[in-house]
Amino acid sequence: MAHVNIFDTTLRDGEQSPGVNLNQLEKMEIAKQLERFGVDIMEAGFPASSKGDFEGVRNIARTIKNTSVTGLARTIKSDIDIAWEALKDADEPRLHVFLATSPIHMTYKLKKTPEEVIQTAVEQVAYAKKKFPHVQWSAEDASRSDLDFLVKIIRQVIDAGATVINLPDTVGYTTPEEYGNMFRYIRENVPNIDRVSLSAHCHDDLGMAVANSIAAIENGATQIEGTINGIGERAGNAAIEEVAVALNIRNDKYQHSTNLVLKEIKRTSDLVSKFTGMFVPANKAVVGRNAFAHESGIHQDGVLKHASTYEIITPEMVGIDSNNLVLGKHSGRHAFKNKVESLGFQMEENKLKEAFDAFKLLTDKKKEVNDDDLFSILMDLQTDAVDVPKYKLEAFQIQSGSSNLPTATVALTSPDGNRVETARTGQGSVESIYNTVESLVQEDIHLADYQLNSIGQGRDALAEVHVTLTVNGKISNGRGTAQDVLEASANAFINAINRVLMSDRNIEQKQAHI
Ligand code: KIV
Ligand code: ZN
Repeated sequence: MAHVNIFDTTLRDGEQSPGVNLNQLEKMEIAKQLERFGVDIMEAGFPASSKGDFEGVRNIARTIKNTSVTGLARTIKSDIDIAWEALKDADEPRLHVFLATSPIHMTYKLKKTPEEVIQTAVEQVAYAKKKFPHVQWSAEDASRSDLDFLVKIIRQVIDAGATVINLPDTVGYTTPEEYGNMFRYIRENVPNIDRVSLSAHCHDDLGMAVANSIAAIENGATQIEGTINGIGERAGNAAIEEVAVALNIRNDKYQHSTNLVLKEIKRTSDLVSKFTGMFVPANKAVVGRNAFAHESGIHQDGVLKHASTYEIITPEMVGIDSNNLVLGKHSGRHAFKNKVESLGFQMEENKLKEAFDAFKLLTDKKKEVNDDDLFSILMDLQTDAVDVPKYKLEAFQIQSGSSNLPTATVALTSPDGNRVETARTGQGSVESIYNTVESLVQEDIHLADYQLNSIGQGRDALAEVHVTLTVNGKISNGRGTAQDVLEASANAFINAINRVLMSDRNIEQKQAHI
C-alpha cells in the first residue's frame, strides 16, 4: 500500500469562498481539528494578503505541532519575507509559492514571456529556499499549460530547491484522463522529478475535482490538496473527506492509504460548516444528512436484512455516532467538561464556566441537550469572543398577527457603547426585525440569503439561522442560534454585520489578489 500525503487548504482556498470571514479563534479551532483529523500539511492562510491572515498563520504555526503548517506567497520577495515572519516559529517552516504557467495567464494576467516566468520562478524559489527547509512551488493553471513548457520550468525549479511540485487544475477545466496523463508525462519527462513530491490541487467547476485527484494518485501524485466539505473559490475544491473515504472503501483498486483518522470526518465537517456558514447539502457524499438515509421500502428492507446490501460506508466509519449521549438538567460540571472535551474543544476554566452557564440556561427550556446543541453553544462562545467593539442585541419585541403589520422594537448596544432603540414594520416578523436593525446601524446592508434549520429533532429543538449579507459592499455570512426562531434570525443578522466590523479592524483591505 503506497502512502499519499493530505494537504488541507480549508483555511486558505476554503476561506476564499464568498462571505467566509473566520475570526482568529475560529481559525485556531479548525486548525486543531484538522490536526486531530490527521492531515499531513495545513495551509493556514496567505500571510501577505492581510494583517488578519498574517496573525492567523503565525498563531497556528506556533500552536500546531503534529501537522506541518504552511502559508501561501506569490513569487515576490516581499510575500516570501512576510510568510517567513509568520511561519518561522513552526517546527518545520514550509512555504507554498505559486506562479502561473498557462499561455492565457502568462499573456493576460502576468504580461510576461515564458522565459521571464521561468526566471522569476527560479529566482524566487531559490530565495525562499534560503529561509525555508520545505518549499512547494505551484504551476498555477497547470492543466491549461503546455506540457513541454511545464517539463522545462519544473526541472529548473527543482534545481533551485523546490521540494514539492504542485500542478493545479485552477479553473476546474480538466478531465480525469487528461489530468492523470499530465502527471504521467511529468513523471516520465522531468529528469530530476524523483527529488520531489508531486501534488494535485483540483477545483470543482465541472464536478470532477475528486475524480481528477484520484486520477492524479493513479498516475504518480504523492500529495492531494483539498478542503473540508469541498468549500473554496467558485464551485470549491476537491473534498478531502470524499477522497479519503474513496481511497479507503476502494483500496482494492487504488492501493493508497492516508494518515487521516476517518472517525473525525463528521466532527471536522460540522465545525467547518458551522464556522464558515456554508451548509452541507443533504445529499452530499460522505457527510450529507441523507448520505446514510434509506428512503425506499426495498432499500430499507435490504439494509435491515444485511446493511451491505445498500450501504457501502458505515456511519460509524466517518464518526456519526448513533449513541449520542445526551445531557440534561441534572448533569453536573464534570459530565459537562467530559462532553466538551469529547467534542474536541479545549477550553480555559473561565470559558468553560461561561459554556456551562449557557448550557444550564438551555436546560431550563430544553429537556435533553445533545451534541449538536452543545456544539452550537461552544461555537457561539468562540464566535463572540473576539475582543473588538461590535453590535450587541440587548432586547427585541415583536407584534404580529394575521391582521396587522408585523412591528419589531429592537434595542442594541452599538460599537461605541451607546444603547440605541427603535421600531419598524415589515411584511413578515423577520423582515420587521431586519428593517429595525438596519435603521439602527451605520452600515449599508442588503440581505442576499436566509436559511433556517433546526438543530436536531423535536419541538424544543434549537433554531439555527444562516444569512448572507452585503455589508458596505462586502459579502458576509452570519450564523445565529436560539430556541426562538426570531431571536436566532436577529442573532445571525447581527453576527454577519459584526464579522465585517471585526475584519475591518483586524484586517485592512486585502491587498494581494490571487
Ligand atoms: O487553484 C490554484 O491554482 C491555487 C494556487 C494558489 C495553488 O489555489
Ligand atoms: Zn486553488
